[in-house]
Amino acid sequence: MNPIDYLRISLIDRCNFQCQYCMPEGADLTYVLQQDWLTRDELRTLLQHVFIPVGFTRFRLTGGEPLLRPDVVEIVGDIAQLPQTQDLAMTTNAFLLAQKAEALWQAGLRRINISLDSLDPDTFQTIIGGRGKSRWHEVWAGIQAAHRVGFAPLKLNVVVIPGVNDGEILDLAALTLEREWHVRFIEFMPIGNGDLFAHRGWIPSEELRQRIRDRWGLVESRVRGNGPADVFQIPGAQGTLGFISQMSECFCDRCNRMRLSADGWLRPCLLNETGQINLREQLRSGVPLADIRAQVAELVGAKPDINFKMRESGTTGAYSRTMSQIGG
Ligand code: GTP
Ligand code: 5AD
Ligand code: SF4
Repeated sequence: MNPIDYLRISLIDRCNFQCQYCMPEGADLTYVLQQDWLTRDELRTLLQHVFIPVGFTRFRLTGGEPLLRPDVVEIVGDIAQLPQTQDLAMTTNAFLLAQKAEALWQAGLRRINISLDSLDPDTFQTIIGGRGKSRWHEVWAGIQAAHRVGFAPLKLNVVVIPGVNDGEILDLAALTLEREWHVRFIEFMPIGNGDLFAHRGWIPSEELRQRIRDRWGLVESRVRGNGPADVFQIPGAQGTLGFISQMSECFCDRCNRMRLSADGWLRPCLLNETGQINLREQLRSGVPLADIRAQVAELVGAKPDINFKMRESGTTGAYSRTMSQIGG
């Protein structure tokens, strides 16, 4: 069993995009009030006195869109400076990255995963909920800025939605031919987006791999990430291809992560809310850190039993939160 040492920290549940699969129209998007966000100090306290002592050493900042958090650079700096931090990463839509890449790098961030679901500005704006075709260009500028500043290998996340962007699989895969980028295709999951999922469905990773194999060939890479992706490479390509297959393959038995929401809920599993505890309420009501630490340690111990095991019974219905609120 993998050690549970990876914490995904959602800094904010708001986003400057409204991707159909993540924050669908009609979903209850009541945002967490700013006063209920875990503050920079609270985050530092929780990492130093709770999560690190319990064994967490790898951290990823997520959202909503984490770059909307006004103190994101300072928070990056705080976490990067903790001597126990072995890995610090961020998942972002890159819209604000051209302005912030340099400061994030200076503060100590070294890994960035960027959502890029399409290379076509029209399709892109449909996916992100409108707001103009120039958004794609801003995101592309953000990706270029991150590349220039030194983030490597850059990871691009593509959620594959049948009839929306699956026609671009080869174009997206081709980005890796000349660049040392890591493009990852993610099977579309029904989390808080029932209508879209019911209408569009999802495509198994193996089918995507076959399309790529038919065009260029594909070999399994010896590099394995620390996450759920299976890594492959087009022969001779500079970069790699990842496939995150949470619909067609259950990787819960190697799950190494927990998730902390912007308002302080710690949940052991993306797909089920069993066991979640609110750390912010406890901190603010003066519960001693040793008690909070004991609860988190207990939850880590309970996680293998909580991991989502009944995937074949379907993933719809049981969520009171959208992906944007959980942090992906
Ligand atoms: P790396 O550390 O770079 O490998 O990152 P990651 O893959 O953990 O992070 P990222 O935020 O890029 O995650 C990409 C997507 O993978 C998520 O948005 C989910 O769709 C999926 N994913 C990540 N973690 C889990 C998980 O624990 N369970 C499931 N079912 N899907 C996950
Ligand atoms: N299915 C699969 N992946 C999703 N993401 C968001 N919603 C979904 C979904 N319904 C992914 C995006 C983003 C990450 C944080 O979450 O690709 O990169
Ligand atoms: Fe981990 Fe839950 Fe995702 Fe399975 S579904 S990999 S247990 S977070």
